[in-house]
Formats: sequence, C-alpha cells, structure tokens
Amino acid sequence: MAYAVEVQNIIKKFPPATVAVNDVSFTVEEGEIFGLLGPNGAGKTTLIRMLTCLMRPTQGGAKIKGYDIRKNPDLVRRAIGVVSQAMTSDLDLTGWENLDIYGKYYEVPKKERRERVRYLLDIVGLKERADDLVATYSGGMRRRLEIARGLIHKPYMLFLDEPTIGLDPQSRRVIWDLLQKIRSEAKLTIFITTHYMEEADLLCDRVAIIDYGKIMALDSPSNLKRNIGGYDIIEVSLSEITSAALERLKSVEFVKNVAQKDSTLIIYVEDVAKAMPMLIDEFKKSNVSILYLAVHEQSLEDVFIHYTGKSIREGEPQKVNFLIGAGVPRKLF
Ligand SMILES: Nc1ncnc2c1ncn2[C@@H]1O[C@H](COP(=O)(O)OP(=O)(O)O)[C@@H](O)[C@H]1O
Ligand SMILES: [Mg+2]
Repeated sequence: MAYAVEVQNIIKKFPPATVAVNDVSFTVEEGEIFGLLGPNGAGKTTLIRMLTCLMRPTQGGAKIKGYDIRKNPDLVRRAIGVVSQAMTSDLDLTGWENLDIYGKYYEVPKKERRERVRYLLDIVGLKERADDLVATYSGGMRRRLEIARGLIHKPYMLFLDEPTIGLDPQSRRVIWDLLQKIRSEAKLTIFITTHYMEEADLLCDRVAIIDYGKIMALDSPSNLKRNIGGYDIIEVSLSEITSAALERLKSVEFVKNVAQKDSTLIIYVEDVAKAMPMLIDEFKKSNVSILYLAVHEQSLEDVFIHYTGKSIREGEPQKVNFLIGAGVPRKLF
C-alpha cells in the first residue's frame, strides 16, 4: 500500500518559546479521508502549512505522494490542492473567473480549462451562480468555490484547513457530502483539519487527535471510541422506581453502574445491544412502564477528554473573517 502522506518526526518551533508542532509522525493512506482534530492553537494550521510547502519544518520532514517536501517542493505543489483556513477567493471576480485564473496559474490549456471549470462548478453546485461576483456568495458557497479551485489541476490529493469553520450546520453538511462525493469520484486522498467532533466522526476514515502540537491518538472514529474502554449510557424514565428494582437493575449482565437523577435513571452499560433486551425484560418483570428512553454512545468528545483531560469546547470559539485574504497568489511556483 502506497502512502499519500508520510510524516517523520516533524517539528516546528516559533522562537522564542512556542513549539507549535512537537515531533509528529504518521502516515495517510491513498484514498482515505484523514482528519486532524484539535482545539484552537493545537498546531493544525502549522502542520498543514509544512505539508503543503508554505512553511519549512524546524526539524524532521514529510513526503507527499513520495515527494520530499524539502527536496521537491515544486513536485509536491503540483500534486496537491489546498483550501486554506482563511477564505481567499477574489470577491471582485465571478466564480468562473476565480477558477479560470487558477487554471491559468497551473497552466491548464484553454480548452481543457473551460471544460474543467464547467465540470467543477457543476460538482460543487455553483453552475447557476458561475457568472455572479463572489461578493454575492454566502460563506458556504464561497467555501465550495474554493474547494473547486483546489481541484482545478486534477491534484493527487486535497488539503483542507478547517473548511467548515464558521458555517451553519446545514452548509457544513453540504461540504461533507461534497467531499465524500469528490473522494469517491476522483479517487482523491483528502486531508482535513477540524475542531468539530461531529465532522471528524462523520466524515473521516481515520482521525488523529492533536493537542499542544502532539498527536495523542490516531485511529478510526469507531476504534477510538471503543479503545477508551468507557461505557454507553442509557437514560430512562420509568413510571415508578423502587429501590428494590434499582438493585435488581444493577445486577443485570453488562450493566456497570446505575445512577438516579430525579425521576430518571442513568444506566452505564458495557454493550448496549446486549444489555438493552435484558433491561427491558427487567422493567416488564417489575411492572413499570417506560416513559422516556435515550441511548448515548461514546462520542469523540469522550475520546478527546480521555486523551487530553479537557473538552475541546473549552477553547475560544474561532471566528472567521470572510473578507480577509481575498485575491489569488501572485506566484505559485
Ligand atoms: N507565525 C507564527 N509565529 C508565532 N507563533 C505562531 C505562528 N503561527 C502559529 N503560532 C503559534 O503556534 C501554535 C499553533 O498554532 P496553529 O498551528 O495556528 O494552531 P491551530 O491551527 O490548531 O489553531 C499556537 O500557539 C500559535 O499561537
Ligand atoms: Mg488553524
């Protein structure tokens, strides 16, 4: 199996005292959606900047599609598309023009470029708005345009730095669907950073949890959840709770603990699929009816707390300024 990304002991220091990325090593497989999940200031942007040759590592290195980021940055740049954290499409140009200009930078021939721009605008759902100024686009539309722009030269892989930051939940979902579609249609490898648990969980095949520049855990979302060895939680309200019934529940197989909060029981179970039928039986035997029942599985939030000792939500919410960073780079190579 070829690796799309191989990172070896990469370090980035910002003098005098910041170690933004602290000796990180991992690999990304071809065709996977790989997520880097971490709070504000964890080192996500710094890592992605090094991998996309926008910043040199202080130590260590990486290969993208086998190309060394230090020795062959031009080959790396040709192989990748990049969607940066700040929105950088030009507000004074139309959607079409934004893509066309990028195509020119990448020296995509005119006829091919026209077809490519048309195809990409269609894929990201902006065909109807192609000739409108980007200034009239919503944040979600602008993001989609920038994803299309990152794909103009048919890259081998795509890097996206917090692509859904500041978007409403519905626009976020549209972006997730889009990335999944692109991945399967173009057999693209996708590397994404995020501080949204749900995004990492629903979108990514594997997730690396990063905090203070260190990778604390790396696995598929389901393995990450399974491996912290916690319990699923069943929350149930019953018509009546007697202390004898409570004791009986505690002795049901797979039940690890039962807590009572007002009229609600919080039942911690090892395996919800096995525990649930037994619990239902127990309620029937006790002749109580269920008024409300909900199951909470372990979430990536629990995983994050397990490895970092804090909730990812404790950080300041990040704000994105839709107006900064307009314009296209003067020189790409
Ligand atoms: N150019 C820079 N100069 C000095 N410190 C920086 C610079 N860029 C980032 N940092 C610091 O490095 C750490 C990681 O930042 P960053 O990579 O932007 O994190 P994230 O993208 O996860 O929010 C932070 O402490 C940040 O303040
Ligand atoms: Mg960042």
